[in-house]
Formats: sequence, structure tokens, C-alpha cells
Amino acid sequence: MDYVLYEQKDAIGIITINREKALNALNSQVLDELNEAFDAVDLNTVRCLILTGAGEKSFVAGADIGEMSTLTKAEGESFGKKGNDVFRKIETFPIPVIAAINGFALGGGCEISMSCDIRICSENAMFGQPEVGLGITPGFGGTQRLARLVGAGMAKQLIYTARNIKADEAYRIGLVNDVIKATVDEAGNITVSAKDNLMAAAEKMAGTIAKNAPIAVRNCKKAINDGLEADMDKAIVIEEKLFGDCFETEDQKAGMGNFLKKKDDPTKVKVVDFKNC
Ligand code: CAA
Repeated sequence: MDYVLYEQKDAIGIITINREKALNALNSQVLDELNEAFDAVDLNTVRCLILTGAGEKSFVAGADIGEMSTLTKAEGESFGKKGNDVFRKIETFPIPVIAAINGFALGGGCEISMSCDIRICSENAMFGQPEVGLGITPGFGGTQRLARLVGAGMAKQLIYTARNIKADEAYRIGLVNDVIKATVDEAGNITVSAKDNLMAAAEKMAGTIAKNAPIAVRNCKKAINDGLEADMDKAIVIEEKLFGDCFETEDQKAGMGNFLKKKDDPTKVKVVDFKNC
């Protein structure tokens, strides 16, 4: 693949959008390669994914404006569908996906981060949906996911004004869960970049998730996602089924057995080797 890199570290997969010269803008090829990269993830061994962008400046600076500039109405709609199909694949991917946002997350960049389960960003990150300034609407799910994440009023303000916001404001409105700073020594010199600290934080979080029972984690993702699309009466039934689905698994037996064993012998260290079955 030209524009997407994949690396696996133990049970963590890292997908990097690697089109740094164009600030990782999403053209059709990047979208196709992202689709392929997600399809190729080995779900038997990977328990959590991290999605990030190459370089220190940009996560994803949006859909490719050059490519979009000559599209007809029908082509515009089908380009929107191409992006939406990939982003929906990310959103419904069986295991959690953490967006590690290392700089600009504009337009399609903000949108792809919102299709991930969790967003954390570096202190230099900038978010926005600048589309109305380009004569278009957000087209990869921004009108839908931003409103669901930060509320309709704030989403409408950001989308109608096309105003970019910095990391601290994104944190304040609940668009990101954490903002990661560079490490600075007493003289004010950067000793570890914000990007390196961001990736370390993302890997630490992914590692914590990967240690938990994989079937349970997957079922939690599905319960939250599917439940949010249903009314409460249906939503709790969705949970009941996914809760029930965990029973009789090796992971449930190991997890509960470990707790009960600890009660007999408090010196037992809580390390459960979950098998994903
Ligand atoms: N599409 C295509 N190329 C892009 C791009 C994009 N979205 N964003 C940046 N680039 C390219 C630039 O054209 C430039 O390429 P060249 O060196 O070949 O000229 C390179 O990346 C570096 O960009 P800049 O020189 O502009 O860098 P900067 O630091 O001065 O500015 C920036 C950075 C503020 C992010 C600016 O590049 C910018 O505003 N980019 C566009 C952001 C945007 O509007 N995104 C939304 C796109 S629409 C969308 O995403 C629709 C949708 O919902 C599906």
C-alpha cells in the first residue's frame, strides 16, 4: 500500500495514514487502502486498534480538495458514500479503535476520528468542519456524528461557522477524551514531542483494553453502538442478549474463577490470560 501503514505490537494494531506531503488528506486511493487495511486486521490476535496520521503536523486535513473540485453531483454523492462506507466499517469494527490525533483533524479528518470509539489528541491538534467555506456540506458523516457527540447546538455552531477549534476547546466540548502535551525540561526545551507522548498514551490505553476479556469488550462496543440507535426498551434487550452471550465462554469462566480463587487466597495476583473464546 502507498498511503497506509500497518504495524502490530502484541495485541495492538496501529494503522497510520501516510500521505504526509498532503497532510494525510483522504483521496480515493487512501480510502481504498484504509478499507483494505481494516479488512486485513487479524482479529484472532489483535484486540485494539490505534488510528493515526504520519508526521507531527496533521492527523488528516480532510478529504482531498483537488480530487473533489471537479466532481459532478452524482460523483460527489458516490465519493461521500465511499468515505461513509469506510468510516462505518471503522465505527462497527468488532474491536475498539482509538484515534490518536496528532495535529489537524479537519473536515474528513474530524469525521474519521469521530467514527473511532475513543479520541485522544496532541496539544497542537486542531479540529473543525470547514466544508461550508468550500461550498459543500460535511460529507463523511460529520453532520450526524458531531451532533451525536457534542450535541446538536454545538455541532450546528461549528459546522455553520466553519470555525476551527484548538485541542483545549475540543476537550471542553467533549469531542476528545484527553489532550497530551510534549514533555518539557526545566529550561523549556522539548524532551519528548507531543506526538511521541500521544502514541505512548494511545498504546497504554490500547494495552489496558487488550488485557480485558476480548469477547466482553467486543460485546460492550456492540451494545453501546447498537443501543444508542434504539429506544431504551429495545436498547436494554440488546444489552441483555450481549450480556448473556458472554456466559459459558472460557473468558467468563477464567475471569470469574480468578475472582473466586482470590477470595480463598488473597495473595493470588490478578493476572487473567483471556483466550478470546
Ligand atoms: N486536500 C488536498 N490537499 C491538501 C488538503 C486537502 N484537504 N489539505 C492540505 N493539503 C495539501 C496542500 O494543498 C499542500 O500541498 P502542496 O504542498 O502540494 O501545495 C500541503 O497539503 C500542505 O498544506 P498547506 O501548504 O496548506 O499547509 P499549511 O500549514 O499552510 O495549512 C491547513 C494547513 C490549515 C490544514 C491547510 O492545508 C488547509 O486548510 N487544508 C484544507 C483543510 C480543509 O478544508 N479540509 C476539509 C476538506 S473538505 C472535506 O473533508 C469534505 C468531507 O467532509 C468529506
